[in-house]
Amino acid sequence: MDLMKKSVKYRFFLGFCVLVTILCFILLSWLCPDKVCAFSNWHYSQLRYPSWSKLSLKHVVADNLGRPLTFLSHPLIKERLKVVDVHDKLSFDELIRSDFHFDIKGSDVIVFLHIQKTGGTSFGRHLVRDLDLEQPCQCRKGRKKCRCYRPDSDDKYWLFSRYSTGWKCGLHADWTELTNCVESAMDQTEKGSAKRRYFYITLLREPVARFLSEFRHVQRGATWKTSRHLCDGRPPTPEELPQCFAGEDWRDVSLNEFMNCHSNLAINRQTRMLADLTLVGCYNTSAMPPRDRDMLMLASAKENLRKMAFFGLCEYQKISQYLFESTFHLHFLQPFHQLNETHGSLARSEISEDDIKKIRRLNHLDVQLYEYATTLLKHRFEIVKKKDKNFEEHFKNLGKKKGSPDGYGSGLKES
Ligand SMILES: *[C@@H]1O[C@H](CO)[C@@H](O)[C@H](O)[C@H]1NC(C)=O
Ligand SMILES: *[C@@H]1O[C@H](CO)[C@@H](O)[C@H](O)[C@H]1NC(C)=O
Repeated sequence: MDLMKKSVKYRFFLGFCVLVTILCFILLSWLCPDKVCAFSNWHYSQLRYPSWSKLSLKHVVADNLGRPLTFLSHPLIKERLKVVDVHDKLSFDELIRSDFHFDIKGSDVIVFLHIQKTGGTSFGRHLVRDLDLEQPCQCRKGRKKCRCYRPDSDDKYWLFSRYSTGWKCGLHADWTELTNCVESAMDQTEKGSAKRRYFYITLLREPVARFLSEFRHVQRGATWKTSRHLCDGRPPTPEELPQCFAGEDWRDVSLNEFMNCHSNLAINRQTRMLADLTLVGCYNTSAMPPRDRDMLMLASAKENLRKMAFFGLCEYQKISQYLFESTFHLHFLQPFHQLNETHGSLARSEISEDDIKKIRRLNHLDVQLYEYATTLLKHRFEIVKKKDKNFEEHFKNLGKKKGSPDGYGSGLKES
């Protein structure tokens, strides 16, 4: 009798265990929308990385500090903290769903996250020189920076970028640096604190072409060594981020040397610059196994990209321009050019097939991020296209005309 009872109890317990396991799997697959984390290599557990929960709390508390609120919308966080969507009107999905207008006169700011060698320089120039605005940026000959003030203002900026405010958050600041700095940098620039809405934008590029382009640039003497790489309030130590070269720069480096330096930030640069690095222990690679670090970084980069109001791809200039204009209701007076003979593609023809393969393998995170970005860009394009009654005409005449009867080309003058 007693034995019988015990066995029933035992069976009940077993059943319970199975049920919990199944529930865990369902929860995991739900938390993990992408193919990034096939279960075979999904090692993440909250106990192993308690910083996840700690960080999430920090993010929630600091939600109005210019961060794009990534973690607020994480299902886990939402569930645990019963967070309601308050003012998360910053991502593309929200912009496109509501009757949104970029409020250049109010408190909206575009923040341009400029990743090296993605075509950001010419895009950055388009932003300050070519937009059809009530009050165009004031650019002076011989000066790199322009003054992009809001209409009717002479000290409030609507654009945070190299050619407007300058590198206020450090040379080529990444997501981690910008989200921790933009708010205070804007306060400092405008000499007073204000509540603003931030819209992060960026450009991506096919990873092999980008890597080769950066390689050529470094060969010619570029270093970006004044970049700060701040994370969790400090720059990386020399042990965490050893310099790849001795001396002033890495001039005349060979491709092999360039690829073989483990701390070369050119490797998977796009993923690193878009990920929230505090999630992976910043530049301390011993904080977790490399596989986990890669997986978390890629997942975070994808999430941050998806949350951006706009991103463009170097290889799809026209679509990128169209998406920018439709998202912000701001219009360029020039069409974006699709260049096919840049340093990258020139360099590519001189590189062996083996090396190209090696570069792809080395930049596997960027390759996956770029695939994701391409799909997402096309998806966004389809959505916006469907909503645009005069799509054909608009798309054909990008950057060619000013003003149109339906107000599409009239920029902000209507508001
Ligand atoms: C890097 O992380 C490891 C493991 O967490 C830790 O022991 C080490 O002190 C860290 N290094 C630095 C410089 O913080
Ligand atoms: C780009 O390539 C195409 C063919 O591959 C060529 O016809 C076109 O002239 C090129 N454009 C530029 C700007 O080089």
